[in-house]
Amino acid sequence: MKVRVAINGYGTIGKRVADAVSRQDDMEVVGVTKTKPDFEAKMAIKKGYRLYCAIPENLKLFEDAGVDVEGTVEELIEKADIVVDCSPGKVGAKNKPMYEKAGVKAIFQGGEKKDVAEISFNALANYEKAVGKRYVRVVSCNTTGLVRVLYLLDENFGVEKVRAVMIRRVVDPKEDKKGLVNGITPDPVKLPSHHGPDVQTVLPHINITTVAFKVPTTLMHVHSLNVQLKDKVSEEEVIDVFEKEPRIILVSSDEGFTSTAKIVEWARELRLRYDLFENVIWRDSIAVVGKELYFTQAIHQEAIVVPENVDAIRAMLEMAEKDESIRKTNESLDIGKFKL
Ligand SMILES: NC(=O)c1ccc[n+]([C@@H]2O[C@H](COP(=O)([O-])OP(=O)(O)OC[C@H]3O[C@@H](n4cnc5c(N)ncnc54)[C@H](OP(=O)(O)O)[C@@H]3O)[C@@H](O)[C@H]2O)c1
Repeated sequence: MKVRVAINGYGTIGKRVADAVSRQDDMEVVGVTKTKPDFEAKMAIKKGYRLYCAIPENLKLFEDAGVDVEGTVEELIEKADIVVDCSPGKVGAKNKPMYEKAGVKAIFQGGEKKDVAEISFNALANYEKAVGKRYVRVVSCNTTGLVRVLYLLDENFGVEKVRAVMIRRVVDPKEDKKGLVNGITPDPVKLPSHHGPDVQTVLPHINITTVAFKVPTTLMHVHSLNVQLKDKVSEEEVIDVFEKEPRIILVSSDEGFTSTAKIVEWARELRLRYDLFENVIWRDSIAVVGKELYFTQAIHQEAIVVPENVDAIRAMLEMAEKDESIRKTNESLDIGKFKL
C-alpha cells in the first residue's frame, strides 16, 4: 500500500515535491493546496492533482474563477499519512497547530526556524535521526548544499574547520515583485551569516563560519569553500569521494562549464524544469594547499531539497532504511545518471 502524502503549498518547492512523490512506487499525492485560483492552480488540476484551498476563507475566489477545489486544507490533511508543508517561510509554523490538531506528521522547509520541528534533516547526514519523528525540517537550499559535502568530507577525512562564502541568486526565476537589477548586496551585512549555525543544526560538531552575498542572477547559488581537514589528503582522494556520491556531479571548465549559465544550459537537456537535484562541483576548482581544501560548487536552489523531502517521508513513516530510501529516491529521479 502506498503512503498518502499531502502537499500544503504548491509553489516552487511544492510542485517539485509533488512530482517527485508521484514518481515513488511507495507513495502517492492525495492533494495539493493553493491560496488563489491562478494559472498554477489550473495547471495542478490539469496535471491530475486534487486541488484544495489552503485558506478556507478563499474558497469563494476559486468558485468565482470556476476552478474546482475538492475542499479545504483541513479536509485534505484528514486523508493524509503525512503533510509536506511547502508554504512560504514562517507560514509553516503558523500551520503547525492544524497538523497537531489533526494528529498528522509534517515536514517543514528551510524557511522555518529550527524549533518548528524535532530535528533538522539531511538524508546523507542524519537520516536515522528522523526515523519515526512527527515533525522534521528539511534544511534550506544553501544548507543542504553545504551539509552534503561537509558530511562526506568529515566521514572520509575529518573536518577541522570550514570557512565558506555563499554567492546567492537574488530570487527565483518566477519572481516579478522583487529582485536586484544592478548591484551586489552583502546579505547579511553584519557577519557571519546564519548559514554556519544552520549547518550545525544537522552537523553540530562542525566548526563553520559563513558569509553571504546576493547577486543579480536567478539561476543558481555558488559556494566557495575552504575546508581545513584533519589529515593531509590529495586532490585525487577528494575527487574520488565526490565521484562516488550520486548526489554530487563533477564538471570541468574545459568541458565548457564556465559559469552557472552553462550548467543550466546543460541541465535543460536533462530534466523537467532543468532541475538539478545534485551539488555541481567544478572538478578543476578542487585544490589542496597543506591541509586546506578549496573548491567551488553550484546549487540549484529550486531543486536541491526535493530528494531530501522524499527521504524524510520514508524516515518519518519508517518505510525504509537510509541506504534503501536514498537508492529508491535517486533511481526514481535519475540522480546519479548524468555524471560526466
Ligand atoms: N525557492 C527556493 O529557492 C527554496 C529553496 C529551499 C527551500 N525553500 C523554502 O521552501 C518553502 C517554500 O518556498 P517556495 O519558494 O516554494 O515558495 P513559493 O514559491 O512562494 O510557494 C509557496 C506556496 O505556498 C502557498 N501558500 C501561501 N500561503 C499559504 C498558507 N497559509 N498555507 C499553505 N500554503 C500557502 C502559495 O500559494 P499561492 O501561490 O496560491 O498563494 C504557494 O503555492 C519556504 O520555507 C522556503 O524558504 C525555498
